Amino acid sequence: DESYSFVVVSNRLPVDRVVDEAGNASWKQSPGGLVTALEPVMRAADGAWVGWAGQADLDLEPFDNAGIRIVPVPLSESDLELYYEGFSNDTLWPLYHDVIAQPSYHREWWERYVQVNRRFAEAVAGVSAPGATVWVQDYQLQLVPAMLREARPDLLIGFFNHIPFPAYGLYSQLPWRLQIIDGLLGADVVGFQRVADAGNFSRAVRRLRGYTTKSPVIEVPGVDDAPARRVIAKPFPISIDVAGFQELASRPEVQERARQIREDLGNPKTIMLGVDRLDYTKGITHRLKAFGELLADGSLSVEDVTLVQVATPSRERVESYRQLRDEIELAVGRINGDYGTISHQAISYLHHGFPREEMAALYLAADVMLVTALRDGMNLVAKEYVAARSDEDGVLILSEFAGASDELRAALLVNPHDIDGLKDTILRAIDMPRHERRKRMHSLRKKVAENDVSHWSDSFLATLRRARRTRAAWG
Ligand code: G6P
Repeated sequence: DESYSFVVVSNRLPVDRVVDEAGNASWKQSPGGLVTALEPVMRAADGAWVGWAGQADLDLEPFDNAGIRIVPVPLSESDLELYYEGFSNDTLWPLYHDVIAQPSYHREWWERYVQVNRRFAEAVAGVSAPGATVWVQDYQLQLVPAMLREARPDLLIGFFNHIPFPAYGLYSQLPWRLQIIDGLLGADVVGFQRVADAGNFSRAVRRLRGYTTKSPVIEVPGVDDAPARRVIAKPFPISIDVAGFQELASRPEVQERARQIREDLGNPKTIMLGVDRLDYTKGITHRLKAFGELLADGSLSVEDVTLVQVATPSRERVESYRQLRDEIELAVGRINGDYGTISHQAISYLHHGFPREEMAALYLAADVMLVTALRDGMNLVAKEYVAARSDEDGVLILSEFAGASDELRAALLVNPHDIDGLKDTILRAIDMPRHERRKRMHSLRKKVAENDVSHWSDSFLATLRRARRTRAAWG
């Protein structure tokens, strides 16, 4: 049997299996920030990636994909309903994003979450060499660290939470708040996006377990056979493959495509762009409201300004996502109906994903990038936009509720709940003189270049190795 000394585990594999109408199966890159961040790391590491292949009831043997060893974990229809759509995306997701949508608490969902986490832990234990390093990813698998530690105390275990960790006042709603804390504390290092997230976690540990925490160290006392341990809880802000993205955006065909996009949109003075998974955390409706009002009060006209909104389909069987889609499409339809002309649409709305080349071309074509998330772990779209703009042009409007705002201070920072503030900021972006655009983009690019995704994974893994040495020294 194969075994690996570096194993990454996440709910979703970097590739989704898709079957076309003729019944032919193929693999395509899966959505979301996690894949964007981890794929380059894995390609360099020669490890194994354990996760779900994106379809119910697929029992597949491990295989190689683009230099990555893929180890699929099967999930049944009811696992998807209870563990994935239920507990992960209708309990934890809204709770961890500050209850923008109401979380549902169901005991059957929780029970299945425990079961499925156990299956992921077993799959990882099965492919991990003695003393291997295991890196567990994200909120769907928070129990895996402790389960793994119990089964395989030889392993070095890291956990990274890609989404926010909520303040105690919200976290404490969770009926299983103790189990989740204990699950995470099975790791040697627990990583978060922001300083605030790591702080919220440490506070929850103090309040719920009474353990001593002296940032970044949490002292976990020994019980029965298990010795006392130290867990490191720290921020590691995630990033993108900056050089890769820059290269993409520098290709002549991508730049030509950007010109083509401008032309297809009727060469407006200003193209504004939003790129999001269709998710209520992204503040898409707030953005549409601000834009609609600017058209209504005559501050903007469709001859001068177009908004391109890419909303990638996501979690379409979860009710709150269905409702949001209806809400967004109603708003887009109204705005286009009210203000569009035969030759100029107000909003070009696209409910599908695009290949990376097309995304890069869109970023190059966009004068103003709108990231108005109500809460977001990091938001890699903001970083991609900056990486694409080697012409040092373009204005980034960025929500202060996105993790990226800790680093990208030179963006126009907004509170998306404040619609008047958002409208003013949009006008300011559109009217910003070239020298100010250049100055801001220059400073944003410096920031993004300093912390690319390999820096992120290197510093996480270096912290994990240090944890191993301290453990050895303790005996
Ligand atoms: C976010 C999460 C990821 C998730 C991605 C796509 O980026 O942090 O864990 O994979 O969204 O969502 P999905 O539910 O389709 O995997």
